[in-house]
Amino acid sequence: DWTMAAFREEAVKAIREQVGDGKVICGLSGGVDSSVAAVLLHEAIGEQLTCVFVDTGLMRHGEADEVVTLFKDHYNIPLVHVDAGDIFFKGLDGVSDPEKKRKFIGGAFIDIFEAEAKKVGGADFLAQGTLYPDVIESVSFDGSNAVTIKSHHNVGGLPARMKMKLVEPLRELFKDEVRELGRELGLPEAFVGRHPFPGPGLAIRIPGEVTRERVKVLQLADAIYLDEIRKAGLYDKIWQAFAVLLPVQTVGVMGDERTYDNVLALRAVNSTDGMTADYYPYDHSFLGRCATRIINEVRGVNRVVYDITSKPPGTIEWE
Ligand code: XMP
Repeated sequence: DWTMAAFREEAVKAIREQVGDGKVICGLSGGVDSSVAAVLLHEAIGEQLTCVFVDTGLMRHGEADEVVTLFKDHYNIPLVHVDAGDIFFKGLDGVSDPEKKRKFIGGAFIDIFEAEAKKVGGADFLAQGTLYPDVIESVSFDGSNAVTIKSHHNVGGLPARMKMKLVEPLRELFKDEVRELGRELGLPEAFVGRHPFPGPGLAIRIPGEVTRERVKVLQLADAIYLDEIRKAGLYDKIWQAFAVLLPVQTVGVMGDERTYDNVLALRAVNSTDGMTADYYPYDHSFLGRCATRIINEVRGVNRVVYDITSKPPGTIEWE
């Protein structure tokens, strides 16, 4: 019968078979999936692996540090840290279309991995933490499938010009199974239990144009929202919670001043695999607390709304 320990053993064997004595680059996005993939790969092929953490500038507040600390201190797995904020903000300048954002970000990741592969003397493989639901819901970068919901940035094969082949050891797993594998590999519970975070990061939680200023506003508001969720003991009861900064300004009043600032939407859903989801039924008092704190503490937001759309017909992310 099937156990995670057995899966781990099989996966290690399969990775060794596929990779041989080749070199592998593994992109870390900061999420649970790519972290579990990296630790598994490290177990399988040790020093043949180079982990690349791309700091896009589009991560949640504090998230980049958490990942770097986990790998360096807890696992002692060497990590190349690429500070790529300038590349991402420049490329996203003036881009509002969600699929264009996703495609640019996916392409930029590939360019960075290719550059890093050259630095290690040519890597033969690129490893990714692709899960089964990503495989189902996505299409290749060239959009060849008939039905596209979203181009997940880590799915769809590689551009033809690229020499590296893909290694995707989690391709048959669902999220809860990846978490179990993470535990099996000794990842700290606080890390394994983290909410999913999309590869394109906060860029797809800022409908319209993405700027450094807007990312900062969203990071602050999102951190307050998560802080309230943790304080209320709800973090582990929710599949995924996050804030979305809307490109809509509304009129408000602060003291006796008129304000004209952004609307922020709060989102929280429960799900078992991300393919369907129900909005989380918070108490109104909890939502009120979040709204008050965010509007008082975050300059640039003067109205907060809660998204009560389930999936389908909505998707979890707004873009
Ligand atoms: P949607 O918005 O499609 O999201 O209902 C389903 C789940 O997938 C996550 N997501 C992504 N994860 N790369 C990822 O690694 C992506 O491009 C991506 N887009 C969405 C989303 O956060 C949710 O958990």
